[in-house]
Amino acid sequence: MPGRIVLGTQFGDEGKGKITDYCAESASMIVRFQGGNNAGHTVKIGEEVYKFHLLPSGVLRPEKLAVIGNGLVVDPIVLLQEVNDLKERGFKVDNLRISDRAQVIMPYHKIIDGLEEQAKGKMAAGTTMRGIGPCYTDKVARWGIRIVDLIDEEVLKAKLTSIVPMKQKIIQAFGGTEHLDAEAIWSEYAGYGRQIRDYVLDASVLINAALKSDEEVLFEGAQGTHLCIDFGIYPFGTSSNCTAGAALTGAGVGPGKIQKVVGVTKAYTSRVGTGPFPTELDDEVGEGMREKGGEFGTTTGRPRRCGWLDLVMVGHSARINALTSLAVTKIDVLGGMDKIKVCTEYEYDGGIIRDFPANMRILSQCKPIYKEFDGWDDKTDEGWTEAAQMGYDLLPEDMKTYLNFMEQELEVPVGIVSVGPARAQTIIKGQF
Ligand code: GDP
Ligand code: IMO
Ligand code: MG
Repeated sequence: MPGRIVLGTQFGDEGKGKITDYCAESASMIVRFQGGNNAGHTVKIGEEVYKFHLLPSGVLRPEKLAVIGNGLVVDPIVLLQEVNDLKERGFKVDNLRISDRAQVIMPYHKIIDGLEEQAKGKMAAGTTMRGIGPCYTDKVARWGIRIVDLIDEEVLKAKLTSIVPMKQKIIQAFGGTEHLDAEAIWSEYAGYGRQIRDYVLDASVLINAALKSDEEVLFEGAQGTHLCIDFGIYPFGTSSNCTAGAALTGAGVGPGKIQKVVGVTKAYTSRVGTGPFPTELDDEVGEGMREKGGEFGTTTGRPRRCGWLDLVMVGHSARINALTSLAVTKIDVLGGMDKIKVCTEYEYDGGIIRDFPANMRILSQCKPIYKEFDGWDDKTDEGWTEAAQMGYDLLPEDMKTYLNFMEQELEVPVGIVSVGPARAQTIIKGQF
């Protein structure tokens, strides 16, 4: 049975939550491997909508384990809030497991996130202000507090005693006025440790045991390849690795355990935050995508910037992640358009660019070269549900032409086509 990774190929918000929930059907375990509560993953079941920031999208399936891997940064306040919210909605949440090696987002990380964003000026990414960057910074600098420390009150106290005065100096250096009280932070966070300790274990032992027993394990990515700290729009992306490789290091499994990598790709592009976006539509077409696609941040509520599908970007993801299939989402949102454009390459300084550039000055000057497609008729929400039940072959011919073009250009087969947020609005085209 495979280890299957589900990850985003664009700037996030591709519909990873929906596709993870769908793929979770055949898995015994769903593992998140990076990021924190900067993520906002939406799952719709019947008329109920669930928005997850930290919990794996598989947590709604009580018979399957939902695991927070070592690669995450965990804000215990948000974690407990999400668990309590689910309990209020009738879930027991006793299927949750948390890696003892995950990092903890502390109050000073959130303060410093805001101060750094202000100080960065034009280099600011427009972060979610959740303390993600400062927490990953501490992980790498070895100032971090891990879950295993949070549940060991003595270690927590010793670490805070040396870390907090240093963080106080950093806050002051940035001109911040917040006062940190090490004793108060210790007593508050030791309390969170007591509340979560029953969920904590060495997650890699659990995950590898499942793989060894031939169970399917689903690895759920957050953010997207173009927000990745290495391959994204640096410095405007996030602070973690968001690619397939991160599923290995962020969960504690070896490469031989992964058989499938599903690249979740929105049929157009959206971005929440700053930085270059070659196919952005700063007009009524982009506005129409935003309104019809409900493109407002799941975490911060900010309007998302929208534009045409960019195959230079998605091709970059196909290569880095060795995608084995695509899950194309929100293609229903393009319904009713007369013409639909797809960017196949960039023009820059009189030449052609086919590989996504590392240089942000160059990327910001790239002009997309488009191929134009005929659009297809729109349907109501029920109409898309019916279309999904009828299967791939009966989809509009022009939609299939669009999907075939994606497959040919990317050399990756489309496995899943999503025509709405609900489980029933999902079409299987091929292997995924
Ligand atoms: P994620 O961060 O990648 O999980 O994506 P988000 O949940 O932030 O944003 C995707 C939004 O689109 C959510 O509101 C989903 O319910 C919704 N969605 C997912 N797939 C589809 C689809 O195929 N069609 C439509 N119309 N909406 C979808
Ligand atoms: P999901 O998992 C879209 C963006 C922020 C900002 C940059 C850095 O729902 O796809 P951070 O708070 O991570 O330091 O912010 O990354 N960003 C996201 N954009 N979807 C997300 O997650 C994102 N997580 C972070 O807007 O530009
Ligand atoms: Mg999201």
